Amino acid sequence: MTILLEWSVEKLQPYVELTSNEIFAVLEVPPRPELGDVAFPCYALARKWKKSPEAIAGELADRFNAGASDVRAEAAGSYLNLFFDPRQWAPRLLAAALEHEYGYSADGEGERVVIDLSSPNIAKPFGVGHLRSTMIGNALANLYRASGYEVVTVNHIGDWGTQFGKLMAAYKRWGDEEQLKQSPIRESLRLYVKFHEETEQDETLEDEGRRWFWRLENGDPEALKLWHYFVSFSLEEFERVYARLGVTFNHTLGESFYNDKMGAVVEQLREQQLLVESDGAQVVRLDDQGIPPCLILKSDGTTIYPTRDLATALYRRREMKADRLLYVVGGEQKLHFQQVFSVLQRMGMDWAVNCEHIPFGLMKIDGRKMSTRKGQVVYLDTVLDEAVRKAEAIIEEKNAGLANRREVAEAVGIGAIVFNDLKHSRMLEVDFSLDEAIRFEGETGPYVQYTAARCYKLLRTGMTRGLAVDEIAGDSVYLTGPAAWDCLKMLGAFPAMVKEALRVHEPSVLARYLLDVSQSFNRFYHQERVLSESTEETLAKLGVVAATVQVLRTGLELLGLKAPQQI
Ligand code: ARG
Repeated sequence: MTILLEWSVEKLQPYVELTSNEIFAVLEVPPRPELGDVAFPCYALARKWKKSPEAIAGELADRFNAGASDVRAEAAGSYLNLFFDPRQWAPRLLAAALEHEYGYSADGEGERVVIDLSSPNIAKPFGVGHLRSTMIGNALANLYRASGYEVVTVNHIGDWGTQFGKLMAAYKRWGDEEQLKQSPIRESLRLYVKFHEETEQDETLEDEGRRWFWRLENGDPEALKLWHYFVSFSLEEFERVYARLGVTFNHTLGESFYNDKMGAVVEQLREQQLLVESDGAQVVRLDDQGIPPCLILKSDGTTIYPTRDLATALYRRREMKADRLLYVVGGEQKLHFQQVFSVLQRMGMDWAVNCEHIPFGLMKIDGRKMSTRKGQVVYLDTVLDEAVRKAEAIIEEKNAGLANRREVAEAVGIGAIVFNDLKHSRMLEVDFSLDEAIRFEGETGPYVQYTAARCYKLLRTGMTRGLAVDEIAGDSVYLTGPAAWDCLKMLGAFPAMVKEALRVHEPSVLARYLLDVSQSFNRFYHQERVLSESTEETLAKLGVVAATVQVLRTGLELLGLKAPQQI
């Protein structure tokens, strides 16, 4: 819509004594087409003109219509409604939407954003929280990139902590090397769970775990060797999931990377007299902000999660030259990030104002949470496999002869999960049904992908008639029907939607927009024949098809989905 809003500003400017920003701020999109394409609420001029909005609307309509021929104005109560003449404006909307890199901008030029995303823990399952962080973070990274920012993505792997001591103790007793190589995450979890079960009977086990972690922290070669082992196998398994999701990172840096960088942080806190003792531990008090103190050193002198995040933030600022630091992490860590950012402030790091936690709510798939300590785990790869199988069954029904069926099923099945994750405002708790998510109708990823594939098919058919996409022209008289006009207006909103999704850090804004585009296009497709006997008509309408597919494909890719050419 915004392209029309921008044009409205230009059109209105000569008649109202307001700046373009002032006009833009009050413009509205009428709820029904009879009320025009854009509405100007005349109260915005009431004070200046010392007249009632109704009187202003009437007066403006007369003056406006005397001056412009491509936009008609109508006074309706206190509104001035603008009707753009599709004959003249449809080709302009089309030309904008067909531009190379439509939706991209250079808004963020010169600014570097470091995004912390995914960040699963070794030796624990890749949970649904990590999936959401991966998908939301990946979509945001794409949106930032598309808007001209320099983006650095970091997967902050949880590869350090007392759980490794437990794992080693358990591995020494019950471990199976073959299993660990083959399915490291399952085997690690089995050991982890067994450790917790057995500790109830055997008290020596906890101590053994502590000893192993002590050995690890003190560089014992055997402990280090085992640690490497666990980490490298788990990372390989994570990599397989990332490859399926189509996600890559600029850096995969474990928490262990900061082992030698925390001492300096503690030192600085001490020098700045920010550390105080509390029950034997060292903390930074944050009373004046009304939040609990940030724990820096435990009573045994060891560092802890916030200490590591302080070192991490400093590293990202100093070494990675971050202008903004974003953390896509579940809402349950809200306090943790508040504390870390506040401590940075107190350390004199003014840039802490550019640190932001981007939280999200819980998600369940068919009522399953996917990760628990008790070992009742639904593994992500199992869920992905299930989705792909279901997608394949649907494709088999719809299009049995499809050559690369497996590949398409992978794109559609995984796309269904990703889209379902992203279409809800991120803070909402969602429990979705896999069967629902994978339907080709309704508010699903497959529906958008299927609509794009329909466009590709129309374009292919056009090509066989010698109507190539790059020749798009035809007569705009064929774009004046309400369905075509509505679709074109919808396409005109794409850049604004990308901007808005980024402003509020909500991929859902883009996901919902793609559903709207798909619906609008399908109305056009069903109401008007795209491929007709008239070359002029077909060419004009294929223009709408080409523009639609460009918006859908770009949008899907920004969200992290593929847009197969055939489904
Ligand atoms: N590994 C952590 C977890 O699973 C998430 C880490 C998030 N990033 C960070 N810099 N703290 O809870």
